[in-house]
Amino acid sequence: MPPMKPSDVDLLDFDSYVTGPPHEMFSLLRREDPVHWHEKPSGPAFWAITKHADVAHVSRTPKVFSSAQTTNIWDPPPEQLAILQGVMINMDPPKHISYRNMVNKGFTPRRIAMLEPFVRRVARGIVDDVAARGECNFVEDIAALLPTTMICELFGIPDEDRRHAYELANRLTSSDDPDAGGSGDDDAQQAFAETFAYAIKLAELKRKAPAEDLATVLVQGEIDGEPVDDLVFGTFVLMMIVAGNETTRTVTSNGMLRLIQHPEQRAAMAADPALIPNAIEEILRYDPAVHHFRRTATEDVELRGAQIKAGDKVVLWYPSANRDDEVFTDPDVFDIRRPNARDQLSFGIGQHFCLGASLARLQLSVIFEEVLRRLPDMSLAGEPKRLRSNFINGVKEMPVRFSPTT
Ligand code: HEM
Repeated sequence: MPPMKPSDVDLLDFDSYVTGPPHEMFSLLRREDPVHWHEKPSGPAFWAITKHADVAHVSRTPKVFSSAQTTNIWDPPPEQLAILQGVMINMDPPKHISYRNMVNKGFTPRRIAMLEPFVRRVARGIVDDVAARGECNFVEDIAALLPTTMICELFGIPDEDRRHAYELANRLTSSDDPDAGGSGDDDAQQAFAETFAYAIKLAELKRKAPAEDLATVLVQGEIDGEPVDDLVFGTFVLMMIVAGNETTRTVTSNGMLRLIQHPEQRAAMAADPALIPNAIEEILRYDPAVHHFRRTATEDVELRGAQIKAGDKVVLWYPSANRDDEVFTDPDVFDIRRPNARDQLSFGIGQHFCLGASLARLQLSVIFEEVLRRLPDMSLAGEPKRLRSNFINGVKEMPVRFSPTT
């Protein structure tokens, strides 16, 4: 077969993601056409941004590369556009800053560090529940549980509603092989409506009985002098559920898979938990949860010689930026001791840098510490099943086994 050319690259073909991100395509683009005009019959045309420096530059220049036309490659159906534009991730400054300022204080590293005892208690409970069984589905029985519990805790969702909230979160985020760019099937639409209805109930509860939680911060909050109404509140709840669950679950599952594949590195982490924070950065670098987010050019602009026109879609490919050899030596090697692993861009950078990054890092550190300590010989009991998606780098199922303990 003749070697692949940049024009052969098809980043919209979901089949290319079934065994992992298409790194061969990304490295070809970085080498030969780092700002590549991607035009295929299978979907919308866009500029593929594949170098670390360019992903950072575009993310940090919201005036030219806007998020306001939404941040997925596929445009949403017109009836959903207005709703999605009410979500902070799809806003530009100054509106974005007003929204972000309102929730920022719930997510400072100090505030998140205070959650550690709770995170540890939950993580221990999760491991306790599987330890005696000797086997489980790592994704469903371990990785998925902590992020959902943390969102409930952050929002102050009452204990009696948590089961309902878990179910809604699962239905909202377990995007089964989205063939249409994740625009969602009927059940996702239904879950969307039910979550909104629940959010309105929660807002009412917090107005009547304020507490030390994010839901109370929101119902008491103001945006540009206007009180937060049910629509804005509901949109925030939805955004957090969608942004915080599947991402953290994915990094936990992919990370465990890498540690199983690299037993000497796993043993080193188990023996010296001080290695865990840097290992988390390397896990994030090596397998980012999100393949891409999109921007839209607001004016004609040149980038690395490419002539981007106003209105063009510009797509940031995180798995590619994280394997750029101008930043990372031997980028395809997984190394928990990599000195600059923290330069990974898996949480984005700039204006929309992930609001939940500290929370995600805390959850990842604690769950890996508990799993490595309690289930040190975990191994694969079958092939992991991956999500067929070019948006989430997800694992649907990962059967594992380990020596049972009590
Ligand atoms: C490992 C887990 C996570 C990953 C890999 C991740 C990834 C990302 C990325 C790449 C962005 C940037 C989007 C852009 O530039 O357009 C982002 C934004 C965001 N993330 Fe996360 N995320 C994670 C966990 C969380 C958690 C736990 C929460 C909340 C509980 C969260 C809430 C958000 C929010 C609200 C935004 C939008 C921020 C803004 O628009 O200013 N994320 N995330």
